[in-house]
Amino acid sequence: MFGARCLLRALRSCTSAPCPRHKPSARLSVRDALGARSTNGERVKVQGWIRSVRSQKEVLFLHVNDGSSLESLQVVADSSFDSRELAFGSSVEVQGQLVKSPSKKQNVELKAEKIEIVGNCDAKAFPLKYKERHPLEYLRQYPHLRCRTNALGSILRIRSEATAAIHSFFKPSSKIKVPEENFFNVPAFLTVSGQLHLEVMSGAFTQVFTFGPTFRAENSQSRRHLAEFYMVEAEISFVESLQDLMQVMEGLFKTATMMVLSNCTEDVELCHKFIAPGQKDRLEHMLKNNFLIISYTEAVEILKQASQNFTFTPEWGVDLHTEHEKYLVKHCGNIPVFVINYPLALKPFYMRDNEDGPQHTVAAVDLLVPGVGELFGGSLREERYHFLEQQLARSGLTEAYQWYLDLRRFGSVPHGGFGMGFERYLQCILGIDNIKDVIPFPRFTHSCVL
Ligand code: 4AD
Ligand code: MG
Repeated sequence: MFGARCLLRALRSCTSAPCPRHKPSARLSVRDALGARSTNGERVKVQGWIRSVRSQKEVLFLHVNDGSSLESLQVVADSSFDSRELAFGSSVEVQGQLVKSPSKKQNVELKAEKIEIVGNCDAKAFPLKYKERHPLEYLRQYPHLRCRTNALGSILRIRSEATAAIHSFFKPSSKIKVPEENFFNVPAFLTVSGQLHLEVMSGAFTQVFTFGPTFRAENSQSRRHLAEFYMVEAEISFVESLQDLMQVMEGLFKTATMMVLSNCTEDVELCHKFIAPGQKDRLEHMLKNNFLIISYTEAVEILKQASQNFTFTPEWGVDLHTEHEKYLVKHCGNIPVFVINYPLALKPFYMRDNEDGPQHTVAAVDLLVPGVGELFGGSLREERYHFLEQQLARSGLTEAYQWYLDLRRFGSVPHGGFGMGFERYLQCILGIDNIKDVIPFPRFTHSCVL
């Protein structure tokens, strides 16, 4: 999705003098048409899909949407234009004059001079029905059509804006984006994380990030797991404490969200109003409070003292389950909470040893958020050669990871990083229950429809 501001600019430059009738109309997106400041009868061309038709004795009203905004453009036409083909779902090209609308519902409308049906839509067979608010579960059956609805349109516009917001969060301080790799002469696998490559890059650039598709053979049908999801990952050199890392994580969440809220007001409103009532307040609560921090050990104590009966009994040394994460977030007043310092035995070889005991932990951090559970996972990395060497030996990985050990031989620095699940982020801010509704083509266990 990209804006058509350049077209609007082109239009403005060509309309300073009245356009002769034969001059081709400038193509405008619905969004730019709705935002047009001057409505001195510019002749424009708008292309899109009919969202509603209202036929009166002498006038015909159409609403045309092209995905550029939630709001559709009202087209007003002489009733002579009326035709059976002008139906919900059909694609059209309308040429005419942009004029100020007499109605309070919109500022601008398009007075049609020419309407061309580009593609008919068989309304009977079309799974999307006029004026119906289809449930998200229903729409999931039609991954090839659902982006034409208001709900998915809004979610996907927000997804696009959130992508831009995340890039702009990392950009100002000259953080380097690492491209995803794609050239194979040897057996290669889809990546589960870009972290180790980011660590290579962080040996030359002090702040790096990547944002791309990630793959996991998760045998889970849960509402928060996909086999292919997008992950934002960052790696920061010369970072010595989890505190510094958590500050960046919280900053990323809050800055990106504020940007989405201010740039996608109507789309967010639709989600908060119709899909997840109450989510607006829940999100504000998350944004205005400082995120909390508890240790894994404290988390287990809280869970042990809970009056709730868990399916999995909480115990030190055992991973937290979804039910535990949910309880902890609630216990923390529905404010996102960082859980830090997990048992060494639970975590991968690269996490930094806290050298504590008898309960031996590593400098790991997860961020748990309301409605979703784990949103971020990260850690300080083991930058000390001998510690890492021992961990690799224990995992039987020494040979394969010589290059990783090299990073600790040649100018090693303390560093750390994290990954944020992008779909879970969208679920969290919008209050969308199922992860399959925040990605255009969800791929998960036993399902790769498109
Ligand atoms: O906690 P994870 O596994 O962390 C890593 O992969 C680290 N190497 C990242 C790093 O430090 N650079 O994954 C990070 C986040 C999770 O917290 C979760 O939000 C999301 O990725 N995630 C998934 N999202 C959707 N479907 C799945 N199957 C996911 N698995 C993880
Ligand atoms: Mg994790």
